[in-house]
Amino acid sequence: MKRAICPGSFDPVTMGHLNIFERAAAQYDEVTVLVTANPNKHTGMFTLDERVQMITEATAHLSNVKVDNWHGLLVDYTTAHSIDAIVKGLRSSLDYEYELPMAQMNNRLSGIDTIFLLTDPRFGYLSSTLWKEVVKYGGDVTGMVPDSVNRMLAKKQAEQAG
Ligand code: PNS
Repeated sequence: MKRAICPGSFDPVTMGHLNIFERAAAQYDEVTVLVTANPNKHTGMFTLDERVQMITEATAHLSNVKVDNWHGLLVDYTTAHSIDAIVKGLRSSLDYEYELPMAQMNNRLSGIDTIFLLTDPRFGYLSSTLWKEVVKYGGDVTGMVPDSVNRMLAKKQAEQAG
């Protein structure tokens, strides 16, 4: 049984993330999408539970994908759950510069490898941060995130308006 993990803050999950989960699910027996608190990102739009719920709905068609959350070191989770590899998407050299030290630190701490999948060019411009900015100013974000995110956003906006 080969197990992979796709960790991230996923605030919120995008179509680019979902594409990586689908490709990882085709290559590994079991894939865990791990919603992880990133201590360097304090501007959460969605709670951890909401992020887990949105990803669970968006990956319902992938029978070998499960969703979990974690507040500690990533390698403590991967070791405890016998995960073989971390799988992440790479959009550009900027992502590479950001990911390289994390991949090397995780390898140094536990021996785990990080496998990078090149982002589908359809989603190369897309990030959770930019999506939030466009949403904030009322721009058209059609097709950028799974429907589960659109539903959660609509619910939040209705709560705030009411
Ligand atoms: O989506 P992000 O914010 O780029 O994901 C970064 C994330 C959550 C994968 C990273 O911050 C992480 O692994 N956090 C868990 C804490 C940890 O293990 N830190 C050391 C990383 S080398």
